[in-house]
Amino acid sequence: MMYPEMRLRRLRRTAALRAMARETRLHPAQFIAPAFVVPGSGIRQPIEAMPGVDRVSVDRLVEDAKALAGLGVGGLLLFGLPPTKDAVGSGAWAEDGPVPTALRALKQADTGLVLFADVCMCEYTDHGHCGVIEGGHVSNDATLPLLARTAVAYAQAGADVVAPSDMMDGRVAAIREALDENALADTPILAYAAKYASAFYGPFREAAGSTPQFGDRRGYQMDPSNVREAMREIELDLNEGADAIMVKPALSYLDVIRAARERTEAPLAAYNVSGEYSMVKAAAAAGMLDEPRVVLEILTSIRRAGADWILTYHAADAARWLAEGRIA
Ligand code: PBG
Repeated sequence: MMYPEMRLRRLRRTAALRAMARETRLHPAQFIAPAFVVPGSGIRQPIEAMPGVDRVSVDRLVEDAKALAGLGVGGLLLFGLPPTKDAVGSGAWAEDGPVPTALRALKQADTGLVLFADVCMCEYTDHGHCGVIEGGHVSNDATLPLLARTAVAYAQAGADVVAPSDMMDGRVAAIREALDENALADTPILAYAAKYASAFYGPFREAAGSTPQFGDRRGYQMDPSNVREAMREIELDLNEGADAIMVKPALSYLDVIRAARERTEAPLAAYNVSGEYSMVKAAAAAGMLDEPRVVLEILTSIRRAGADWILTYHAADAARWLAEGRIA
């Protein structure tokens, strides 16, 4: 059948028909809001490059978590800013560090949010790299036990899911083994499987104080040009025991999300990263874009590409707009 018998506009005529024909829906239960935790109390410091996102102390974080849960947001992803840094990043696993302290407080507050803890060394090392430096390079194998130790500390403090973002080879297996040995066999791993060496992380590095002091991350994060390699990363991480996998960033990598979706049945997350957020906020502040519509369109495109979960700094706003019945 063809035009004039076939007319695709028929199902677009009214809002009710369009709602019936809609193929992709956003639900805040699949949003995960990142948060930056600092030591102390009563602290809420705005992050200049990310309007609307703050660094917060644990007491303020608990308030934010309650608000997110009230909006129906599914999860919270914690990043910590430690009081001091050293060469090996020992602040990452310190029991009284910002992330374990926050996890214990959030558990006690019982918000119902799924608590994800990002596992990486870069916020905790004085050189800003995601692992231990040996001979001027990030040593893969020397970093694995530190990541495993950190993941165990977070799971013991109350993380529902640990999420390694370091891109060392073999880290999922090392973390799985350490969790299992410590009676944490029920703690899932969300692996940042296909994480690219991206300039879109710029604002995050300001937020987390994790800019490398020399060189860059191209020796461990992926080349933006590659998609077949992403499939190998995903396969390796799943074979090592990852329960869910991630593609990061999201917006310039929708093809990678689609390819991953077609390759695996495992839950697939996509990280709508800091630079993607900052671009929208800057354009909206300049009056160049309709922020709610653009944000919902971006999140819809990430879901349409095949992601189940979306890590996004827009989580609370998007949940609010969806509750108002807004669509992309
Ligand atoms: C830590 C980490 C980074 C991000 C998440 N985990 C920074 C990096 O790899 O440099 C970026 C998140 C964002 O940009 O929103 N390794």
